[in-house]
Amino acid sequence: MAETTRSVHSQALHSTVVKKVLMALTGLVLIAFLLMHMFGNLKIFIGQEAYNHYAEWLKMDLLYPFLPKGWFIWIFRAVIAACLVIHVYCAAKLWAVSLHGRGSRYVKKKTRDQSLASKIMRWGGLTLLLLLIFHILMFTTGTITPGFTYALHDPYHMFLGAFSVWWVFAVYLIFMIVVCFHVRHGFWSAFTTLGANVGPTARIVLNVLAYFFAALIFVGFILPPFAVLIGLVP
Ligand code: HEM
Repeated sequence: MAETTRSVHSQALHSTVVKKVLMALTGLVLIAFLLMHMFGNLKIFIGQEAYNHYAEWLKMDLLYPFLPKGWFIWIFRAVIAACLVIHVYCAAKLWAVSLHGRGSRYVKKKTRDQSLASKIMRWGGLTLLLLLIFHILMFTTGTITPGFTYALHDPYHMFLGAFSVWWVFAVYLIFMIVVCFHVRHGFWSAFTTLGANVGPTARIVLNVLAYFFAALIFVGFILPPFAVLIGLVP
């Protein structure tokens, strides 16, 4: 009986660790995607031709002729979507486990800081998901088109039109604040799960890097929309 209980307990622990590792790995891929997307957006400062050329190259020409024209973007979308689904699925499962375990004498009491951080990550993650759906409905499917006409197939015009509208900028400001908090804690948490948080020096390095990437992503993403809003992008 004791043997069976121990084995059930160790299985549960094992599956929690697997989910945490999967969350860490997919989270790091998503941060890499964010950095790439951010550098792409900054091309708006070079001008209409450079920005539209970049968007076209990404969608049609990347890895051509190793892949047929237009294939790369679909493989890329599939990888990002798979990472997102795995990340959200594991988060939801771990959330459910923590709700189920609440009050159990077998669950070690968390510190207040830990539970506040995980609360922010969970509700922040959910908010992020909703804002991401809004973002895709705007720029990828053209379902919500404030300030621009999607049918023109002109990414530069889309960008300028959208961020000339104040409330669109406000929504993206909130989006980026939530992203920034999520990346700050997520980066730290991912490397801790993967075993990099091994001592006081590693702890400081991880903290500095986490703040650096979160700040870089916030500034790099918000700069182009802000410049458009105040009329600095012609
Ligand atoms: C100020 C912040 C952001 C701006 C201005 C922005 C802008 C854009 C634009 C213009 C596109 C369409 C590109 C095109 O069709 O040529 C796009 C696509 C996309 N963005 Fe963003 N983005 C921002 C933040 C984010 C964030 C934080 C995420 C993820 C959490 C994200 C995820 C995506 C995804 C998944 C796509 C679809 C890519 C595709 O169609 O394959 N974006 N973004």
